[in-house]
Amino acid sequence: MKEENMKKYQEQLENLVLGRTYELMETNKKLQQEIMERRRAEETIKELNDILQRRVLELDHTNKELESFNFSVSHDLRNYLRGIDGFSLALLEDYSDQLDERGKEYLHNIRQAARCMERYIQDLVNLSKGNLFQLFFEEIDLSNLVEEIAKELQRLEPGRKARFIITPGLAATGDKQLLRIALENLLDNAWKFTGKQPETLIEFGITRNRNVEAFFLRDNGAGFDMAYREKLFQPFQRMHALAEFPGTGIGLATVQRIIRRHGGDIWAQGGVGKGAMFYFTLK
Ligand SMILES: Nc1ncnc2c1ncn2[C@@H]1O[C@H](COP(=O)(O)OP(=O)(O)OP(=O)(O)O)[C@@H](O)[C@H]1O
Ligand SMILES: [Mg+2]
Repeated sequence: MKEENMKKYQEQLENLVLGRTYELMETNKKLQQEIMERRRAEETIKELNDILQRRVLELDHTNKELESFNFSVSHDLRNYLRGIDGFSLALLEDYSDQLDERGKEYLHNIRQAARCMERYIQDLVNLSKGNLFQLFFEEIDLSNLVEEIAKELQRLEPGRKARFIITPGLAATGDKQLLRIALENLLDNAWKFTGKQPETLIEFGITRNRNVEAFFLRDNGAGFDMAYREKLFQPFQRMHALAEFPGTGIGLATVQRIIRRHGGDIWAQGGVGKGAMFYFTLK
């Protein structure tokens, strides 16, 4: 009886072991399947990564090509323009006695148009730079930059009565070359649109607006209608007549691109005849 019990017990045990072995085999099979699936997924990820890597390289290559294309086109166009300007000047200087006043005026107009076009090309190059260039971040004294640009503006028009109030030591991290282009454009505007005031007043500082710390550039110039405050930043959009204030309308589009490339934002406030204020943040 005892032996019979033992046998039964052994059989039960064997069945149990068999069952467990079967379960283990099943689990093993599932695991193998999972490993296979994972390997396949890994391979797919690797393939996708390779494709992505290739795309990045292609994009980089296209960017570089576009950059050099931009460079050579603007370089060539400028050379032709310099030719037009130079020969017009030569005509004015060497054949002045054979030209009447009207002829001379035409030549002046040709030179003026050549210079406008040269600036236009520079603006377009700057606009594309804002997009393509890789940023090189460093600590920058924005107040110094503003000071330098202001001095240059005043140097070019020494007769103009102007006052710059610049809060000293305002620093930021950013790409110096691009931020210089941005500030040049903002100051260029402030200088241009205050040109008809008896005294130009331009202020650079920092303020808390919309609950964020923002740099600002304020002027006491012609101002603009707030209804168009978004439009200002679109390429070739201008709120003032060309005859009154010259320009191509690309400056602020460039500034916005540059600020956004820095993870920041720019917005404007103003009123007709009440001056303008441009705010910007940098991450
Ligand atoms: N400080 C400002 N005061 C008043 N209006 C401004 C000021 N800055 C910009 N604007 C308005 O926004 C428009 C777009 O400015 P933006 O700098 O893009 O072009 P622009 O100065 O006319 O030409 P560009 O900068 O290409 O020579 C200007 O034509 C003007 O109507
Ligand atoms: Mg401008």
